[in-house]
Amino acid sequence: MTGRAHDSAAEAGKVWLVGAGPGDPGLLTVKGLRALERADVVVADRLGARAVLEGLAADGVDLTAEIVDVGKRPGHHAAPQDAINALLVQLARDGKQVVRLKGGDPYVFGRGGEELAFCRDAGVEVELVSGVTSALSVPAIAGIPLTHRHLATTFTVVTGHDQITELGGGRDHTVVLLMGVGTLAHSALTLARGARGADCPVAIIEDGYGPNQRVTIGTLASIAHQAAVRKVRSPAVVVVGDVVGLSPYAPADIAAAAHPVDIVDPLASPSPLPTQRTPSELPAVEQTSRKATT
Ligand SMILES: C[S@@+](CC[C@H](N)C(=O)[O-])C[C@H]1O[C@@H](n2cnc3c(N)ncnc32)[C@H](O)[C@@H]1O
Repeated sequence: MTGRAHDSAAEAGKVWLVGAGPGDPGLLTVKGLRALERADVVVADRLGARAVLEGLAADGVDLTAEIVDVGKRPGHHAAPQDAINALLVQLARDGKQVVRLKGGDPYVFGRGGEELAFCRDAGVEVELVSGVTSALSVPAIAGIPLTHRHLATTFTVVTGHDQITELGGGRDHTVVLLMGVGTLAHSALTLARGARGADCPVAIIEDGYGPNQRVTIGTLASIAHQAAVRKVRSPAVVVVGDVVGLSPYAPADIAAAAHPVDIVDPLASPSPLPTQRTPSELPAVEQTSRKATT
């Protein structure tokens, strides 16, 4: 079924809230792709969503849907949330199959819950298709797992605007900051005052999976200065915790600091401590096409 093949008078419209993932079309779900293939209209955000649409087109995936760009573009503001909500409902009432394509996962700082509730309240059928959140996948592209045996057993995802003063835990409790570039200095200072300490490792991954992907690694004490010197820009994911030392981009002193916390598990078989890979052992794609500096 192609996007234009519907008889809008005979078929009721529906909205699919689809998570596009972090911008790599390979990280769009199969269910999300199927929804895009049958859509009449795609209402797309800028971050993540447009990159996926462009990547699909480059891969020869021929989507017939009309694309409505509601994201922030250079020189243009994003469409207000009220206008997006109203547009989704109007399109569905016109009998269209509508995909609302959002970066990452719609339910992770994506206002997906609001859009879903608005459609339901308006009597429009709506379905959520989860996406791969940048909170997990962007650290992953820099070789950082959010949990790792003997290093981290918990993670918290917060925004730079959230109140992190009350955020407890030590370096084995990984903190992931979304929308955290503008408030980085304040966040780093706040977290350094707690149990993590000023030498706790920090990574900033800018434009994950995009052409300007770049990794900056330091500590809570140094990261704000490094970010200023390197003119770090949004979109970026900030990761705080000992797991940062597992990144192949971590300098030797930070990799060495990825020491295990004292977890005693009598049933566990001994596992080797994480080691840092030498640059020649980094995946070829990262060495050749990604700017990876520390
Ligand atoms: C409004 S939040 C939306 C998060 C999204 N719903 C998700 O699950 O990934 C936008 C923030 O996500 C992060 N982000 C999303 N995609 C990213 C990417 N490709 N590279 C780096 N950061 C990204 C940045 O922190 C950005 O400021």
